[in-house]
Amino acid sequence: IMTDTVNWKNIHDHVVEWVLEAGESLKRAVKGHLNVESKSSPDDLVTNMDKQTEQFFINKVRTSYPGHQIVSEEGFGDEVKSTKGILWFIDPIDGTMNFVHQKRHFAISVGIYEEGVGKVAVIYDVISGDIYHCIAGHGAYINDEKLDELDSGELKTSVVAINGTWLSKNRRIDPEIVRGIAEHTRGTRSYGSAAIELAYVAYGILDGYLSMRLAPWDFGAGLILIDEVGGKATQVDGQPLQLLEQNSILIGKKGVHAEMLRYVQEGIQGGKYVQQK
Ligand code: IPD
Ligand code: CA
Ligand code: CA
Ligand code: CA
Repeated sequence: IMTDTVNWKNIHDHVVEWVLEAGESLKRAVKGHLNVESKSSPDDLVTNMDKQTEQFFINKVRTSYPGHQIVSEEGFGDEVKSTKGILWFIDPIDGTMNFVHQKRHFAISVGIYEEGVGKVAVIYDVISGDIYHCIAGHGAYINDEKLDELDSGELKTSVVAINGTWLSKNRRIDPEIVRGIAEHTRGTRSYGSAAIELAYVAYGILDGYLSMRLAPWDFGAGLILIDEVGGKATQVDGQPLQLLEQNSILIGKKGVHAEMLRYVQEGIQGGKYVQQK
């Protein structure tokens, strides 16, 4: 097996170069006319730029790294059934609604795994210009600045990102559980891009994040960054995340994660619902 000869630094540098190039097109595109369609529901948007950016990355990966497989949102990737080999998780635009409406707070997210183990992560917040990136084992960075190992944190002094969906009536989690968590934080935020929210947790400017439904391309890169700085990530009920499936996600500084998990577990024991699928 040749896999231990993989040059992760090379791959990392390629990804950084590619997100910067694709980011230039996205910056031009937000100023012009976007072709917006909805997919599964009126709030599930896709634009010409989501598709174009995904195709851009897929061409790059297929040309430079032919044996690698790609899991991506808009359907141009591979049908991946196992975590064998080298897998790229690509979200060409994370936060499409922000891209269309806010014209900011969207990201390109690229996470690369070998045999299910995170190796390289790049999250590019296009309009702010910040790149969160790492090669596993070599530290995580925002631009050129190395990120600190996360402290344990505590819920009562934490800022946790929670989408309003989960605080309102929904079929995946009893909003009472989520409100219970929110009430014990210092404050909550919602930025509309899971990739950016995960990068913020890695950076330590958010202490936690909860979502009931994320796809592998949403969390693939963020998870590698969080691991690198010593954060904790599971499904909301504490089960391990499944790399190739849609998951709920509970992520944060170790102590904050543990406290949030306790509220979820107490809720479940008290008969409140949590629905993974
Ligand atoms: C979405 C964003 C959003 C999260 C959704 C994702 P998309 O990704 O990350 O913050 O709440 O679950 O689907 O569709 O904009 O790439
Ligand atoms: Ca989408
Ligand atoms: Ca996404
Ligand atoms: Ca997307």
